[in-house]
Amino acid sequence: MKQTNTILVTGGAGFIGSNFVLSWIEAVGTPVVNLDLLTYAGNAENLASLEGDPRHLLVRGDINDAELVGSLLREHRPRAIIHFAAESHVDRSIVAPDAFISTNVHGTFTLLDQAKRFWSALDDEGRRDFRFVHVSTDEVYGTLGPDDAAFSETTAYAPNSPYAASKAASDHLVRAYHHTFGLPMLTTNCSNNYGPFQFPEKLIPLMILNALEGKPLPVYGDGGNVRDWLYVEDHCSAIRSVLERGRPGETYNIGGNCERKNLDVVNAICDLVDEMAPPLPDQDSRRKLITFVQDRPGHDRRYAIDASKIARELGWSPAERFESGLRRTVRWYLDHRAWTDNVRSGAYLEWIDHNYAERLAR
Ligand code: NAD
Ligand code: TYD
Repeated sequence: MKQTNTILVTGGAGFIGSNFVLSWIEAVGTPVVNLDLLTYAGNAENLASLEGDPRHLLVRGDINDAELVGSLLREHRPRAIIHFAAESHVDRSIVAPDAFISTNVHGTFTLLDQAKRFWSALDDEGRRDFRFVHVSTDEVYGTLGPDDAAFSETTAYAPNSPYAASKAASDHLVRAYHHTFGLPMLTTNCSNNYGPFQFPEKLIPLMILNALEGKPLPVYGDGGNVRDWLYVEDHCSAIRSVLERGRPGETYNIGGNCERKNLDVVNAICDLVDEMAPPLPDQDSRRKLITFVQDRPGHDRRYAIDASKIARELGWSPAERFESGLRRTVRWYLDHRAWTDNVRSGAYLEWIDHNYAERLAR
């Protein structure tokens, strides 16, 4: 059996996946089959600009559905799978971890097993050229002290949240499918992404929308937790580099060279919203909306990425600076109020109520 130049993307209606699909069609232009369950985090509207484009096919379905995954592989014979589909929010994994195990662990297993069957039936050239890129997170490495060296590809796994543990489990399955069966796997572990189409449960879009609307800005703990921030377009270009030039069986860390304390990020968002949106009545600065709330249980203190391997081997480095990337992101949310109104449905409001009602009482 021979492959086509189609790629199969999972989770391509979510934040990073939809950015990836849009940039793939623009930069590469070969067909994409997009398998997405359209959970609360997936939104077909992210891909509205591809409506009627024969190069994009959105299939609503579960990566746990072995029959569906197998039939999509046999029908479209993709040259690669790019696996984004996951439950991705740490706070939700603390409240309700079941879905994280089901999608991130069992779903990844199902996808791997179907990929292995498909790959085994390819001719020699097809087996050699096929790739499966597994998109994972830096959170599998646990937490760093202020002076610790950044996470490298050889840092021991030490996941601390149910989300991080489920991603770590999926990374191990990926490793095993390469080692045992020879499936040409590549794993990427990246830092916190930001940019257009991010669901407003995550720090940056939540703070932009709350600041715009004059609502409290709930900073967990003392606001001193540090994250490395990666502009989503840079992440997409890194994944394309890994797909085309990465060595099967390897893992690549992807970062933005941009460590920031949460409080500094929130202050910067306040200043940008102050500059771009009309001032709030009775408020000279949105910084006054910052409210320190009860910390996340098990909250990792610091993440930092050593991205020298991908720079050295694949010649990739991030193009966007945090200040300009954040400015572009705030602008995008201000210019897409219809999108934000749509995604903040009843289910979203229930989550906000659940996650913040008690914290705000601190
Ligand atoms: P997201 O939550 O925005 O999107 C996830 C997508 O997966 C949604 O479209 C959802 O509908 C889909 N999905 C969920 N369960 C599914 C299932 N069972 N079958 C098919 N589709 C399903 O997530 P994101 O932020 O775009 O993250 C994408 C990937 O990148 C995830 O694997 C995540 O672990 C990883 N990652 C994200 C970040 C980040 O900062 N957002 C950082 C590091 C790694
Ligand atoms: P988040 O966007 O949930 O990403 P992750 O937990 O995967 O890093 O959170 C980023 C940081 O912001 C993290 O340290 C938790 C913190 N945070 C807040 O302080 N307040 C909030 O309301 C949220 C959602 C996050």
